[in-house]
Amino acid sequence: MCGIVGYVGNRDACPILLKGLHRLEYRGYDSAGVAMVNGDGALNVYKCKGKVDDLEHFLDGKDLCGSIGIAHTRWATHGVPNDANAHPHYSESENIALIHNGIIENFRVLKDALIENGYTFRSSTDSEVLVNLIEYIRTTENCTLLEAVQQALKQVVGAYAIAVIEKGNHDEIIAARQSSPMVVGIGKGEYFLSSDATSIIEYTENFVYVNDGEVAVINRNAPLKVFTLDNEEERIHIQKLKLSISQLEKGGFPHFMLKEIYEQPHTLVDCIRGRINPETGEVKLSGVIDNREKFVNAKRIIFVACGTSWHASLIGEHLIENICRIPVEVEYASEFRYRNPIIRPDDIVIAVSQSGETADTLAAVELARKAGAFVYGICNVVGSSIARATDSGSYIHVGPEIGVASTKAFTGQVTVMAMLALAIGHEKGTVNKEYYQEISQALLKLPETLEDVLKIDAQVEDLAKIFTYAHNFIYLGRGYNYPTALEGALKLKEISYIHAEGYPAAEMKHGPIALIDAEMPVVSIATPDHTYEKSASNIEEVKSRGGKIIAVVAREDEQVRKRADYVIEVPVITDCLMPIVVSIPLQLLAYYIAVNKGRNVDQPRNLAKSVTVE
Ligand code: AGP
Ligand code: GLU
Repeated sequence: MCGIVGYVGNRDACPILLKGLHRLEYRGYDSAGVAMVNGDGALNVYKCKGKVDDLEHFLDGKDLCGSIGIAHTRWATHGVPNDANAHPHYSESENIALIHNGIIENFRVLKDALIENGYTFRSSTDSEVLVNLIEYIRTTENCTLLEAVQQALKQVVGAYAIAVIEKGNHDEIIAARQSSPMVVGIGKGEYFLSSDATSIIEYTENFVYVNDGEVAVINRNAPLKVFTLDNEEERIHIQKLKLSISQLEKGGFPHFMLKEIYEQPHTLVDCIRGRINPETGEVKLSGVIDNREKFVNAKRIIFVACGTSWHASLIGEHLIENICRIPVEVEYASEFRYRNPIIRPDDIVIAVSQSGETADTLAAVELARKAGAFVYGICNVVGSSIARATDSGSYIHVGPEIGVASTKAFTGQVTVMAMLALAIGHEKGTVNKEYYQEISQALLKLPETLEDVLKIDAQVEDLAKIFTYAHNFIYLGRGYNYPTALEGALKLKEISYIHAEGYPAAEMKHGPIALIDAEMPVVSIATPDHTYEKSASNIEEVKSRGGKIIAVVAREDEQVRKRADYVIEVPVITDCLMPIVVSIPLQLLAYYIAVNKGRNVDQPRNLAKSVTVE
């Protein structure tokens, strides 16, 4: 998982590397380190357990000279978070330093072979094996660093984004990638390397995405060059990316998560912009226009995703089956990729991913493409691996999401899915004019609806005080709001560490109802739709067993509020978009409970924003 940064140019590398690491901390934050070559050619590595702030303290008084360097913030896969396992890793002779994002799956075999050749190891990581393999090849074959990296990588099975520098070489970083993200920013007489273009956006707008199987030679005195592992030179495509720095900072909010919750009325404007005609309500998605026949003739749609994106996909399933009458399946990408799924040429696989870098989702995309399916991406990060690996797609355009708990990406994903369903349904003739207009008008009004929903903030903050010390939570919903219940529970558990489960409300009586007692808060979503009466009965079932009901209801609600212990009132829009409305108070509830418990909301324990390992 982890974030990697590199710099070579005419400025001091260290401040640029540290700033980049801060921006990438969302990717991993259990240890951090930097390596630089100073003016005398010495290769200095400094690293420690902890966050980038801890690294900064550790760097006090050290020799930080050098205008070339690489840096890493880690999310451990092999070996506990400690100083020795932190990156960069020196080679045995300390002549080479390497940073690595990913997993070297065959590291044991390689390590045993190196041990037989006299190598010793200071860490338990798979990454240290690679730096020693590179050194071994470089010395035994007396080849260049580039050649040694190419040959070493041919022996590696697994995923990596690596960067390597060498003692005595002020000019060059060698970087390579396979299944982990990597981008090179091109400045004037300087280069920046990163796992994520947004971390270096203040220095340049020009980026080259390194592709799988490519090795980049980043030399301050030469144009960027990219080779295959067989040393064939590849053509370089420079892409422009514009982002403002304020999009990456907290803008007065105490946490990125709260900022991102509050951004939702605006992010949905960006998501919808240019896609729904405000005069006519007509929805136009270029991905559907360009691939009309494929969508119209699709026999089945399969969503592949993980976590929150998987929850959004469950809502996508309802939307597409309801509006387009195409059968839909929703798969965990991690399960899909390993169970020999049946994929036919007239299937459409839709990969949903905020980061566009989730390893399992990317692998599912590759599998689906190999099987001949048309693969569509719903991603947030522009130019991300999944966005590039898919045949076509729609970005959600909600801007960088920094908080580890996904919020604005979820509402953006559901919004894009609603537009997708309308666009396909219109082409297929499966949606009547009135329903089409009802949904597209509600989409256009979403920004003002969400402004309205956010007025509930103070009330949810008070409610959170009552439940801060609960040990368990249950979230119930039906229909479109069953996935909303799952998402509400996920938000709470990941940032507050309170055990929480989401269920379809009617499923309670098949087992989970045994958990209900006076200590159990139950968040019940009972907004008006065709399951309202049923949801009201499910609430009765919980009430009669002593559970504490926190009901999410319409402002006009009369029935459910009488039975609820606490109510959260929301405005009502067309039923299929209610998950967007309801998820806002659920995000706030999780947020305030986590803050009350003193949790690290933006960087909860054990998690990382972008899961680029299996
Ligand atoms: C969301 O709050 C989670 N942190 C996580 O479940 C996330 O949604 C999942 O890892 C998928 O990420 P992606 O959308 O970037 O692919
Ligand atoms: N596998 C490496 C390690 O455990 C890198 C993990 C990462 O991507 O952060 O150190």
